[in-house]
Amino acid sequence: MRFKIKNICCIGAGYVGGPTMAVIAKKCPHLQVNVVDVSKKRIEEWNSNDLSELPIYEPGLEKIIKDCRGENLHFSTNIKKQIEAADMIFISVNTPTKTKGIGAGKASDLKWVESSAREISKYANGSTIVVEKSTLPVKTALTIKRILESHDTNMNSKSYDQSFSVLSNPEFMSEGSAIKDLENPDRVLIGGEDQEAIKELKDIYLNWVNHEKILTTDLWSSELSKLIANAFLAQRISSINSMAALCEKTGADIKKVSLAIGSDKRIGQYFLDSGPGFGGSCFKKDILNLVYICDHYGLEDVSSYWQKVIDINYWQQKRISYLIVDKLFRTVSGKKIAIFGFAFKADTNDTRESPAISICKDLIEEGSQIFIYDPKVKRDQLEKDLDINNNEINMNNEKDGSWQYAKSINEAVTNADAIIIMTEWKEFENLDYKNIFSKMRSPSWIFDTRGILEAEYIKSLGFKFWKIGLGNQKNDDQYFDL
Ligand code: NAD
Ligand code: UGA
Repeated sequence: MRFKIKNICCIGAGYVGGPTMAVIAKKCPHLQVNVVDVSKKRIEEWNSNDLSELPIYEPGLEKIIKDCRGENLHFSTNIKKQIEAADMIFISVNTPTKTKGIGAGKASDLKWVESSAREISKYANGSTIVVEKSTLPVKTALTIKRILESHDTNMNSKSYDQSFSVLSNPEFMSEGSAIKDLENPDRVLIGGEDQEAIKELKDIYLNWVNHEKILTTDLWSSELSKLIANAFLAQRISSINSMAALCEKTGADIKKVSLAIGSDKRIGQYFLDSGPGFGGSCFKKDILNLVYICDHYGLEDVSSYWQKVIDINYWQQKRISYLIVDKLFRTVSGKKIAIFGFAFKADTNDTRESPAISICKDLIEEGSQIFIYDPKVKRDQLEKDLDINNNEINMNNEKDGSWQYAKSINEAVTNADAIIIMTEWKEFENLDYKNIFSKMRSPSWIFDTRGILEAEYIKSLGFKFWKIGLGNQKNDDQYFDL
């Protein structure tokens, strides 16, 4: 029988595969959804009885896992068995930037996509719809098709009863609001050639998404739309961050500027928050990939235009590190600095490409003792990200920089010279800053890289205060005063 989907398999139980399949399982109780991964640890975490041990923190996710896991949602490492049983297979594996070889530093590393396609080619039965969920360079569907069809020469394959349709169905959810985005997407994009296969995938989404929001198109437009959407979003952040610097120089306030320009419908109010630069696993790698593709097609002026979006992001992080050192009497050696938040944005435990990593590394290199508090990021993640061996530093007995994991705000701020707000966690807005001030060493600084605190109030408590994009409005030097 050709299609009539009953059994879905998703290869890759990560930030996309996990939440996406959880929402499909919730909305489609008539389907069996199996999420598989090569990582035994990740699958064990997804199957943990203690829901706080799930590998991913997303508001609303625990509840869906509690309701659907073991019913029509399953997590396992048995890739062969689940591919054999599936009518539709999502590829949702990582596609990071290549670190070596041709295209290193720009092109996407497709080795995980290729190995997924090879597994599918080996084990799939009958007619199977293969859906690209990962973000991929344009034309990858052709590569996947070729690998799937290579079964003719593959002795282990069951070529006698296999056929494949490849669709592109990029994911547009954001971390921290993944469940909300998946349950109520702005649009669902499906690219493909096989109209029957497109209809099968569309029918799944129609269980909860209005048909007007489901856009169907050709494969290449779909693949490319995902890269371009991320490039446009990141471009807005680099634009607003570059203007935040101008506001600081001229006495304007980027918050007021964002409101003023965002009120124009053509510009729009979203994605105009200046901050320490964009983080997350995708914006940088997807723009680098776009730059690589443009270069490949001889469009050097186009690629250098988009490269600037990344350059400004790097510049923003560096300028924040420098200004912190500058304001702390141009030396942070031996000074205790409390870091509020390490995740790349609020409501996630993900730290990939978080601006906090580069800023913390800069401050450690300058000799400061940093204490990091984040409500969701665990100690072992900080170890991986900061990649600095504190023991080595102590053995040399030099008063070099170091970092500590702080279990509480109190531990982080006691005797600290400065606080740096790196992530916009809601709880940082409502802390008892009066009490915090009394525990710190004077002069006590707060550097608000997310612009979440009220300048006049914080200064009235006695703090020295720097806020992203806020210029010296009263022209009396009080914001920059050492
Ligand atoms: P991730 O690293 O969190 O998860 C990928 C998972 O795939 C890992 O657990 C890995 O072990 C597994 N894997 C790799 N090769 C495998 C194989 N051959 N068989 C079985 N499992 C395998 O990555 P992610 O953040 O979920 O991103 C996945 C893709 O989705 C990327 O292409 C990314 O660009 C895209 N994307 C991510 C987001 C996001 O918010 N994170 C949003 C939209 C799109
Ligand atoms: C982003 C896109 O928003 C998603 O549509 C896309 O699916 C996803 O990438 C992906 O392909 O991985 P995500 O990275 O999860 O989602 O989160 P965003 O909300 O886009 O934030 C990215 C970074 O930009 C964060 O560091 C955030 O703090 C920063 N940001 C965002 C700003 O500095 N200002 C803003 O106004 C918005």
